[in-house]
Amino acid sequence: MKQISSTLFFFFLFLVSSTVLLFPQPSTSSRTTLIPSTATLYATLNVSHSLLNTFKVVSFQPSSQPQLLQDEEGLGRGFDKGWPTSSLSISIQPRHTLYPAARHESYASLLSARLARDAGRVRSISLRLAMKLSNTMHSLLYPSSSSEVASTDSLSSPVVSGVSQGSGEYFSRLSIGNPPRPYFMVLDTGSDVTWLQCQPCSDCYSQTDPIYDPSASSSYSALSCNTPQCGSLEVSACRSGSCLYQVSYGDGSFTVGDFVRETLTFDGSRRVDGVAIGCGHDNEGLFTGSAGLLGLGGGGLSLPAQLNSRSFSYCLVNRDSTDSSTLDFESDPVGADSVFAPLHKSSKVDTFYYVGLQGMNVGGSEVSIQPSLFQLDDSGNGGVIVDSGTAITRLQTQAYESLRDAFVSRTGSLKRATSSISLFDTCYDFSSLSRVRVPTVSFRFEGGREWTLPAENYLIPVDSQGTFCFAFAPTSSSPSIIGNVQQQGTRVTYDLSNSRVGFTPGQC
Ligand SMILES: *[C@@H]1O[C@H](CO)[C@@H](O)[C@H](O)[C@H]1NC(C)=O
Repeated sequence: MKQISSTLFFFFLFLVSSTVLLFPQPSTSSRTTLIPSTATLYATLNVSHSLLNTFKVVSFQPSSQPQLLQDEEGLGRGFDKGWPTSSLSISIQPRHTLYPAARHESYASLLSARLARDAGRVRSISLRLAMKLSNTMHSLLYPSSSSEVASTDSLSSPVVSGVSQGSGEYFSRLSIGNPPRPYFMVLDTGSDVTWLQCQPCSDCYSQTDPIYDPSASSSYSALSCNTPQCGSLEVSACRSGSCLYQVSYGDGSFTVGDFVRETLTFDGSRRVDGVAIGCGHDNEGLFTGSAGLLGLGGGGLSLPAQLNSRSFSYCLVNRDSTDSSTLDFESDPVGADSVFAPLHKSSKVDTFYYVGLQGMNVGGSEVSIQPSLFQLDDSGNGGVIVDSGTAITRLQTQAYESLRDAFVSRTGSLKRATSSISLFDTCYDFSSLSRVRVPTVSFRFEGGREWTLPAENYLIPVDSQGTFCFAFAPTSSSPSIIGNVQQQGTRVTYDLSNSRVGFTPGQC
């Protein structure tokens, strides 16, 4: 409490001082980021805005947000009418609107929890990739290498220290079953199987919604072992003719249970029957409050594949805001300002979305980076994926260092913060500023299109006092990852039929 009131005091001090030092406002104001990228050398960071959000997010109480309940009231309306809508849509909201950040006494401690989850997420991706490339998926379902599992007791429960899937910073609201009941699901482009915790639980973590009960749903049906869906699972088993699934996330988190067919109901009461999902009786890892996970990866069992979607898109709002947005299926990228990256398939692993990244620009100039650092090779190593669940973009160490050096060399006039913070080595002290002009940072994709980021997508607050860090990080593991801090406020369209990923500012 004492700490909060002193931070508030400093914040007011900062408000007062910033009025005195008020930065001259360029006439283009805050819409700088919407100007076509090639012409943009500088962006403006609204320091006051970012800092206000750090206070709001720490004091936010989910129960005070009626919008959380709105769609629940709307659910079921017109369910039997099967209202046609132009696209299948699901609402998305940042994690803290469901799972209060208020128990963190400061923004700095909230951030360090986020970064710890993020490190787990990156580890999980590289471990799963390594397992798939070396073909060493471990099965918990075959404790005695028998193909008939006798009872749920033999669904074994290894010791778990996993945190990675908790890094889902965004949740969607999807209804499952008949009658449809709403569940918070983690949005995940890094895995394929959609699952939720399911009664009877042999081991379920705590979640916000009541746990899904198949006996209360008339649309639930078991999948038999000889179905293509069961055959597509990486790890499956058969019990009395019914399909059992298991998904492991590389860090010890896993889900095990029945693989079943269910009805999903989207916003506007659009309904899709017979979607293969996991009914997880044993789920471990910190999936933190969500009922389960929505698999949006590139594999055959993912939701876009099962819906036969030519495309899907999402917009991830600023993680510190209380805004919500949507995940849409069959959404065509719109807007002249959409930037496209070629979507590449790995010949080895179909889950991840690789994009053709050629290089990076800072302040309109190309950063000198060997393009080979971003290339996906024939053995499935390297490359750059776009991921909804990773927060901070990870670049191969050499590429990161070149990018950082280019940024530092163009920000010599800005006051540096002395120490490095967590995984960030380049931080600034903006405590006496309300706005600051910074060089632009852009991704340059194969084909030459440049995606220029809004300033708040690469300079993020690490406390409520005005310390901001350059939000990229080095990695020595394969692959590089474009994270959701860089994607926020942007509609990202996975245009599967045209093999490209579109980035459109706004459109949330
Ligand atoms: C900066 O953010 C503050 C606080 O949210 C807001 O009142 C102000 O209008 C913003 N300034 C600009 C130029 O967008």
